[in-house]
Amino acid sequence: MASAAPAPAAPAADIPALKTYFAANFKIGMAADPSGYKNAIANPVILRHANSITGENCFKPASLGVSPGVYNWATADELAAFGAANGLGVRGHTLCWHSQTPDWFFTGTAAEVRARLETYISDVVTHFKGKVYCWDVVNECTSDDASSPYRNSKWFQLLGPDYIEIALRAARAADPDVKLFINDYGTEDPAKFSRLMTIVSALQARGAPLDGIGHQLHVSTTSPTAANVDNALRSVAAKGLINHVTELDISLYNDPGSCFASKTGCAADITGDATLLSAALKAQALQYRALFNVFKQHPSLQSVTTWGIADNSTWLSGFPTTRGNRPLLFDVAGQAKPAARAITDDAFVP
Ligand code: XIL
Repeated sequence: MASAAPAPAAPAADIPALKTYFAANFKIGMAADPSGYKNAIANPVILRHANSITGENCFKPASLGVSPGVYNWATADELAAFGAANGLGVRGHTLCWHSQTPDWFFTGTAAEVRARLETYISDVVTHFKGKVYCWDVVNECTSDDASSPYRNSKWFQLLGPDYIEIALRAARAADPDVKLFINDYGTEDPAKFSRLMTIVSALQARGAPLDGIGHQLHVSTTSPTAANVDNALRSVAAKGLINHVTELDISLYNDPGSCFASKTGCAADITGDATLLSAALKAQALQYRALFNVFKQHPSLQSVTTWGIADNSTWLSGFPTTRGNRPLLFDVAGQAKPAARAITDDAFVP
């Protein structure tokens, strides 16, 4: 006889289900690939707390786009079926990005690159029609410096600023109903956000089909201020657009720019030091509470996704450097952290 499968970890029952607690405000999403949500720690957490899921990698061009016209649908289809079976709406992420995109997208003349992008988007959006509720059509198109509103990406170099409108129109032509987003990090930085708004204004002036802005919100315990997030959400709504928070996590570390540029000067790992870790988790809980208090004030904010399910698996263990990190609402065992209590109980003192 085959040995019994190990019992799944008990769901964290000590806080309300987040999807219920925030039902009047926004969907609660979590990012994972099938290997992540099938993990015994993470699985009970996502099933209990989330009503939205984003494929952490499996919907990206590097996963789907094998070669021109050849697709690897299996993993993304598995995720879409998991979502449909468990009441989780699926956020599509992402169609046009400079990263995690095979080199074959970028070869040939501008006309060939454009046609290939249009075909790819048309095929992928058609394949998932009715199965995803929105697409991050273009990811990270905003410049990190003041030289231009537009990131100097391979897409920009090959097609100029038009690539964003080309991508949006191709997505809309393939599915008239799915919500179309531009998604970016750093929208909490007023200067970068204003460059993104310049891009958005140009798109709107041309009548490009854009429904919303995704705010990644990869942030830390000390930055940003709630006011900066509040201002960004308000400005997007003022343009008639939907807001989504798409990749929220709160790093325990406040690294200098050099850590992101060259992995130098990164803060030291504190996950082995009980005293420092406890203090950081308190600061993190207060930052999560401050951000959710802003989120709740914005009817235009329809979905809030954390970039991961629980601290047992987070991309921040490898970015911007290899180091322990605990950026999510649930701990390495899948139990509710002080941050999860802080956003569901105003009286809780972390
Ligand atoms: C990250 C994934 O979490 C990692 O597993 C992968 O190795 C690299 O990409 N902004 C995005 C996401 O839009 O797609 C990125 O996801 C994190 C930063």
